[in-house]
Amino acid sequence: MKLLVCENYEEASVTAAKYLIDLIKEKNDAILGLATGSSPIGMYKELIKSCQNKEISFKNIKTYNLDEYCGIEQSNEQSYFSFMNENLFNHVDINKANVNIPFANEGSLQEDCDKYNNMLNNVSIDLQVLGIGANGHIGFNEPNTSFDQETFIVELTKETIEANARFFNSIEEVPTHAITMGIKNILNAKQIVLIASGKSKAQAIYDLFNSKKDIKNPQTSLQDHSNVIVVVDKEAASLL
Ligand code: GLP
Repeated sequence: MKLLVCENYEEASVTAAKYLIDLIKEKNDAILGLATGSSPIGMYKELIKSCQNKEISFKNIKTYNLDEYCGIEQSNEQSYFSFMNENLFNHVDINKANVNIPFANEGSLQEDCDKYNNMLNNVSIDLQVLGIGANGHIGFNEPNTSFDQETFIVELTKETIEANARFFNSIEEVPTHAITMGIKNILNAKQIVLIASGKSKAQAIYDLFNSKKDIKNPQTSLQDHSNVIVVVDKEAASLL
């Protein structure tokens, strides 16, 4: 794993964006794995700038998102579907038919997981963007998820629900379940760029580099991948 420590969130965003921009310039039909959360927002802003300056185009780019809440509609402003439109897709020249965001209906949870998983197993993601939870989760793969897990429905931990409550009017509105790519799907990507900023991520970043591979720390599953770039600000790197 390669570690890049940046002065602050802005610098981390520019640094991470460069990997995607360089890839898109080299391969205009690249397949991207995308993430939500506050960590990649600055990076998405850089991609938008680059696209609007005509440096890159998303016309032939295909995307697969990591996860989505269960039990809320795509039209809900807190869905990851809305997040992606607002923070990236509505501002670039992507063909929305090339955008894939998992979605699981109450009545067909397993079927919907299998459908998304089959799609993932039929593509080869060139670059997967990741954030990281304070408890080390990647996507919504919470601690104690098998590293062989493929797309599944997860019950979110109390810690994750509390962390994500800041986006909702009240903690009761935070969905308790989500559909997520499994760790195995994530590890299939050719390259992974993980972004973390702030003190709350320092322990998760410390464990990423220093803890033994263990399902207690989902992020340690990345240790065996041959091409992982970890872009952090000084605070997230403060325990290293
Ligand atoms: C959520 C998402 C993850 C994300 C994590 C960290 O739970 N499912 O994909 O990496 O939170 O979010 P943030 O970047 O807002 O700290």
